[in-house]
Amino acid sequence: MNTNAIGVFDSGLGGLSAVKEMLKAMPNENIIYFGDTSRVPYGNRSRETIRRYAMQDANFLLQNNVKMVVAACGTVSSVAPDLESVLGVPYTGVVLPTCFTALNESKNGRIGVIGTTATINSHSYKKRIKEKNPSFEVFEQDCPLFVPLVENGFIDRNDEVVKLIVARYMAPLKEAKVDTVILGCTHYPILKDAISDFMGEGVTLIDSGKETALYTKKVLQENGLSNNSGKDGVAQFFVSDTPDNFEKIASLFLSKDMNNCAKRINIEEY
Ligand code: DGL
Repeated sequence: MNTNAIGVFDSGLGGLSAVKEMLKAMPNENIIYFGDTSRVPYGNRSRETIRRYAMQDANFLLQNNVKMVVAACGTVSSVAPDLESVLGVPYTGVVLPTCFTALNESKNGRIGVIGTTATINSHSYKKRIKEKNPSFEVFEQDCPLFVPLVENGFIDRNDEVVKLIVARYMAPLKEAKVDTVILGCTHYPILKDAISDFMGEGVTLIDSGKETALYTKKVLQENGLSNNSGKDGVAQFFVSDTPDNFEKIASLFLSKDMNNCAKRINIEEY
């Protein structure tokens, strides 16, 4: 039993898709979330920059005595898979848990992967799926406009701009007749309804945030680190830019009032 918090980080709002599921799956756990809102997006930056940012994000969490670090970011998980070796606490990214579920879900062996440009260029999801089952076909698509859409609050499935951009990126996967799509960036579950409207009911969308939350629970249990206090956990939120926009969109996404919930920190100090 360990009552220290789980540390979760992302470049911005996307990791909230993992936090939302953690709150459901592990109501007793305390969570410290860091969204690097002053440097989002990560997905079109170089490998070196993404790795440096990820290390600073993890350091901030470690200084808050977290018992586990979760990179709730497809880009960091793809570009810095070796982060675990320097942290000294259990760690997970989103790639591994998400691939396991996709492999189990797909019936026709045709899986689509969408992610940031850095994630897609790393082929992280494709490699992992092919390792487990070489007969699966994997179709990859980067969607660089999805993160700015989410960060700017364009998340309504009926918004014409959202519909247009979703259709543009998802059309090749629909043509490829995939039956499963990995939402390989944690911002994308926030656009899940719009993506699902376009792909149709027969296509299963795998939420990287949700799968990572469930995997985190398993890792904590296996390491004897779960919080079994019976008390409701507390979630604290930190950002690297002004909290207003984060709080506004977080309120919409988590369906609760998040006003004045986030504190600003200077991430360059870590
Ligand atoms: N949520 C991140 C990911 O999962 C964000 C991407 C970005 O900052 O470009 O990849």
